[in-house]
Amino acid sequence: MKMYRCRICGETYLGYGAPANCPFCGAHVEFMIAPEAYPVGVNDIMITETERADLESSIELERANTRFYLGMAERKDNDTLRSAYKRLAKVEAEHCSVFCKLAKVGKPADLMTPGETTGSWETDIEESRAREGRATALYAGFAARATDSRLREIWEAVSAVEADHIVLDDLAKGYI
Ligand SMILES: [Fe+2]
Ligand SMILES: [Fe+2]
Repeated sequence: MKMYRCRICGETYLGYGAPANCPFCGAHVEFMIAPEAYPVGVNDIMITETERADLESSIELERANTRFYLGMAERKDNDTLRSAYKRLAKVEAEHCSVFCKLAKVGKPADLMTPGETTGSWETDIEESRAREGRATALYAGFAARATDSRLREIWEAVSAVEADHIVLDDLAKGYI
């Protein structure tokens, strides 16, 4: 067994090999590093006004998407999709907590409260696809204008994770 630490969310993974994606935040394998290589104080950064505003938008986006997926996961008629979107909710909640850490603010009080959905698996998966598309593009834009290298790294990595979620939505359609 080996220990790995995710450079993006800071969580530790225990296993026989590095996972293709961080099980907590979904970051790709290149971010799974040896715990001793995890840089101390990597999140102690100075942020500009623009970066603060972009972090606040990121926190709000992750909050909304976490709650949307928790809402989807409350539906009882498809256990595969219920489980998949509960997992997605946890990944988005992890993103939220990464952004909160960087902004040095507490997590939103209602982060884990299920939110409204559009009412059916078909329309919710379409809605999810749209949300993930918006997140992918938004974070790519935040990464491009970030001046801090840690923030750029985080937004690029999380943008790639949100792009993976679009693929997941397309997969999920096969389980309706
Ligand atoms: Fe992670
Ligand atoms: Fe996310």
